[in-house]
Amino acid sequence: MKIRVSDDALAIACGADTVAEAFARSGAAVERVSSWGMHWLEPLVDIDGLGYANVTADQVVAILAGEVESIGLIAEHPFLTRQTRLTFARAGKTRPTSLDDYYANEGWLGLAKARAIGAEATVEEVLASGLRGRGGAGFPAGIKWKTVASAPADTKYIVCNADEGDSATFADRMIMEGDPFMLIEGMAIAALAVGANKGYVYIRSEYPHAIAKMEAAIAASAHLIAPFVVEVRVGAGAYVCGEETSLLNSLEGKRGEVRAKPPLPALEGLFGKPTVVNNVLTLAAVPWILTHGGEAYASFGMGRSKGTMPVQLAGNVKYGGLFEVGFGITLGELVNDIGGGTASGRPVRCVQVGGPLGAYIPPSRFDLPFDYEAFAEADALIGHAGITVFDDTVDMAQMARFAMEFCAVESCGKCTPCRLGSTRGVETLDQIIAGKNVEANLALLTDLSETMKFGSLCALGGFTPYPVMSAITHFPEDFR
Ligand code: NAI
Ligand code: SF4
Repeated sequence: MKIRVSDDALAIACGADTVAEAFARSGAAVERVSSWGMHWLEPLVDIDGLGYANVTADQVVAILAGEVESIGLIAEHPFLTRQTRLTFARAGKTRPTSLDDYYANEGWLGLAKARAIGAEATVEEVLASGLRGRGGAGFPAGIKWKTVASAPADTKYIVCNADEGDSATFADRMIMEGDPFMLIEGMAIAALAVGANKGYVYIRSEYPHAIAKMEAAIAASAHLIAPFVVEVRVGAGAYVCGEETSLLNSLEGKRGEVRAKPPLPALEGLFGKPTVVNNVLTLAAVPWILTHGGEAYASFGMGRSKGTMPVQLAGNVKYGGLFEVGFGITLGELVNDIGGGTASGRPVRCVQVGGPLGAYIPPSRFDLPFDYEAFAEADALIGHAGITVFDDTVDMAQMARFAMEFCAVESCGKCTPCRLGSTRGVETLDQIIAGKNVEANLALLTDLSETMKFGSLCALGGFTPYPVMSAITHFPEDFR
């Protein structure tokens, strides 16, 4: 009998450690594996493939005696069978820091292929895959790699942005906690492709489990990626350090303040050297691309949004979790069919996609396909593909205020539209919420949002108008 319980932070928060200990006390051997990403079922216990959901320690004896009904075969759960798991192919199945498990499940094949075909062909493979930056901007990874590869320098770096700060996002964390070798392999392939000898994973301090797993995996695989070397660096809690130049400053030991671009980090990045800065999901997609070929990856998705996206369903949603799927699926399918609507059972009023700087989208726009261009046309962003669901009790004026307040708190202070604009935005929204000069203040807020959108140095100030203006546009009744 094989008993598996996840040791992912979410599973642990739901009681997985206590459940695993209870099984061990009963004399059963328990394997701690990664999470399947079906969060509403945690702690989810896997016994020879059969799933037992929301298990508590006092159920363990009854489960072992066959007295508790299972939810059936986990691998056949509709939440999983509807997915296209490329990046998350091993999720739920392997022990995160077991090299044996990684080898037995396609591990290191991508790096072996890259070594066999060489740097130039590796970049070509990533270009052919159409892989775009999964941190949010969607810039083609292959073009970024090509820029770094052709920059003349004695030292080059690979920096993995693991400062996952957006609301409703947890895909980076799940990779680092559940499949850390995949990220290391992706970084090693990037290093080979561009000629880098050193890599850093910049992880937010709020992710202690991810930090521990990454450090263990780096130590266990150092000999496999040599002469490339990877180190973990821990952030100190600033949202803006997820912006690449601010992250680089933080890595250099400086204040986490945004740098003006140009120069691009691809040409003058960490310590002034050519640097690939990629998000966890971007680098984690690379081993599959090298193993199966760029064209195979590009066969998923739609338009210029190629491949799959690990969508994260959270907030007031019935079936929250990780749903990896080819681009093109509609927002309505994700929220209603897959997510099952709200956890509260009340009607969905809106969703926010792309973190605290993402637009609020009403159900009337749920026909929107998950695609970078379609979202941009609708004045929205995919960002890191976190979807926060809200029911009809949400007050959109308060949500708009929250966006401005968030920006004011997290602003690095370098540019005026963001530093001052966000504080003036909070004050103006307070006036509107108090019912004072509403029309004049709404006009002022719109003007301020335009200034922030076009005058800010980085996405923090530049994107704060998205939640604010989308709330005003789609839910005007909440402001008057
Ligand atoms: P950007 O569009 O300025 O750049 C995207 C990437 O492409 C950067 O790495 C940039 O250095 C690189 N790049 C641009 N032109 C290049 C060229 N010619 N050659 C080589 N590399 C080039 O976007 P930015 O400011 O880096 O990111 C904005 C995005 O961040 C937004 O779309 C937003 O969705 C996302 N975001 C993500 C968050 C998260 O927690 N994941 C939080 C906040 C925003
Ligand atoms: Fe800093 Fe805000 Fe300007 Fe970005 S927009 S550089 S966070 S002040």
